[in-house]
Amino acid sequence: MANRRLAPAAAQPQTFAFSPENAEWAQGQIEKYPEGRQASAVIPLLWKAQEQNGGWLPRAAIEAVADELGMPHIRVLEVATFYTMFALEPVGRFWIQLCGTVPCDSCGARELKDYLQRRLGAPGHVSADGNFSWLEVECLGACCNAPMAQINQDYYEDLTPDLLGTLMDDLAAGRPVKVGSQVGRTSSEPLGGAETLTDATLFDGSRVGAWRKRFEEKDAEDGSEAGRAEAASSEQRAAVEPKPARPDAGRAVGTAATDAPAQRSAGGETPVKSGDTTAATESTVQPNRPAHAASEAIAKAEAAGSEAGTQSALPRNAPPPQPATSGASVDADAPAAPTKGN
Ligand code: FES
Repeated sequence: MANRRLAPAAAQPQTFAFSPENAEWAQGQIEKYPEGRQASAVIPLLWKAQEQNGGWLPRAAIEAVADELGMPHIRVLEVATFYTMFALEPVGRFWIQLCGTVPCDSCGARELKDYLQRRLGAPGHVSADGNFSWLEVECLGACCNAPMAQINQDYYEDLTPDLLGTLMDDLAAGRPVKVGSQVGRTSSEPLGGAETLTDATLFDGSRVGAWRKRFEEKDAEDGSEAGRAEAASSEQRAAVEPKPARPDAGRAVGTAATDAPAQRSAGGETPVKSGDTTAATESTVQPNRPAHAASEAIAKAEAAGSEAGTQSALPRNAPPPQPATSGASVDADAPAAPTKGN
């Protein structure tokens, strides 16, 4: 990992100010954040300052960003020196950031580093023609195509010293170059091409179509009306016979009581019939019957039992009636029912 130091004083400009266009852009970034959180815009502002300054961040730019955001200079200096995306010294026209972390290192980054050292000299210095400078950095997130390097804004992967040399020659000469893998693999597929999911019928729909056709032909052979209907395409069938939606799909369904006492009462009938004990009992054990309907049936049955002076109308699992709290008929041995205030 390279040292992260500011450029020598001789290379530092005395002042820095955003151009009017960039100042407006910076203001737009700052306004993205709520009041008191303007410091969150520090990365984009530093990035824009670096871009305006020819690819590197002088001290004056770091301090200007700090002043813009109302931050102490040291806070912004900490950010600028932490992230290698910010160059702290002048860079060449093409700034090469070579990944030296373990996956790239074990795939040949060390040979690339030796090559750059031989061709350009020590990291952090601009080549004599002004075209290149380089720096070793930590993982850039393209380990699957290691070893790799970032040159300005683009990634170049699967590099060898020869490929990197050719790439640099082309860049310096202004010839078009290919970004990404330099050995022709697509994205991060295995070297030599994809090894799985290579059957084209997986993706062109023909595999699913073949299965559907087979079922349709089988049904058509049966000669049934349904079979002939199945022979039509699914789209045609859906248009002619749309399947009704199931409003109860995935939900517990309550069965409406069709002969409940409340309905009888509303219809002008006697709410409780002689067979209601069984009905009420059943209603309490039907899992999908609305609870309020069961309670109502029990209450009606209890009321009927009280009127008759017996418990015969109560369901078996209903609680026994409580003794009266006063009067001559109170059983002296029975526990007194709680009264208000006890
Ligand atoms: S280790 Fe080099 S890109 Fe991740």
